[in-house]
Amino acid sequence: MKRRVPRTVEPIVVTHCGAGSTRAVRDAAGRAGRAGMAALRRGGSALDAVLAATVVLEDDPRTNAGTGSRMRLDGSIQMDAAVMDSRLRAGAVAAISNVRNPVLVARKVMETPHMMLAGEWATRFAHANGFPPYDPATDHARARLERTKDDLARKEVPPWARAWLRERGTDTVGAVARDGKCRFAAASSTGGVSYMLPGRVGDSPIMGAGLYAGPEGAVTVTGVGEEIWRLLLSKSVYDRLTDVGAQAACDVGLGLFPESVPTGIIAVGKDGVGEACNRDMAWWTNARSRGSAKAARP
Ligand code: GLY
Repeated sequence: MKRRVPRTVEPIVVTHCGAGSTRAVRDAAGRAGRAGMAALRRGGSALDAVLAATVVLEDDPRTNAGTGSRMRLDGSIQMDAAVMDSRLRAGAVAAISNVRNPVLVARKVMETPHMMLAGEWATRFAHANGFPPYDPATDHARARLERTKDDLARKEVPPWARAWLRERGTDTVGAVARDGKCRFAAASSTGGVSYMLPGRVGDSPIMGAGLYAGPEGAVTVTGVGEEIWRLLLSKSVYDRLTDVGAQAACDVGLGLFPESVPTGIIAVGKDGVGEACNRDMAWWTNARSRGSAKAARP
């Protein structure tokens, strides 16, 4: 009897260093993407790939995730991260502190009956599960907090709602991947934005807002959390992947935001990858061309 050989598709990894990130950190996006590809070559799944990629980005002190995360106005660091795959399995942590790689804790949450753990209890969960205490503060983050405080002291910052709209390099990191079996995964991780109260949670750990994955593809986004969350941007892009293709879905998603709101999107679907950002954004992919719904589908 002839055995059916499963059809495979081109594995793809896409990474980004956040809306507003410049060429100066493009090497980080590349190293992260190659770490994701290496995970796939070792036989790992799309989920393994986005984890490997996001850990590299979190460990780079130049990005606003993991080591190097922004400080809240009280000088504390609270981070958000999430992962999701095409089986709709998901795990997230919100306002977690004192860990090195929030995205790995989010992966651990995925193994529990819950989808998200928050605050002090997320940190306790991490430490109880073998993630050692770790201080992600850097001198750069401290200096940035001082600048933020100066802005506030000079009253250069308008009321809170308007302050979120000012560009301050909201450099969340993220990755999406498709493995050879056409399974998808998305990850996001962030230290948040400037002018941030302790306890604030942004879009990054929220399924449908900061990221989304399903059988049709994976999306992760960067920008001003409150604005992204309002529009459930990642789910909105995901829902268009099949009809218009990955690139057009990202373009339509970006078009939902005025130019004044820094926003970036990366996606992978069955037709390939998409990327759109209204600022500079350091990003990387191994895919040679953008997705188009008209392209051959696996
Ligand atoms: N997109 C990151 C945040 O708003 O926290």
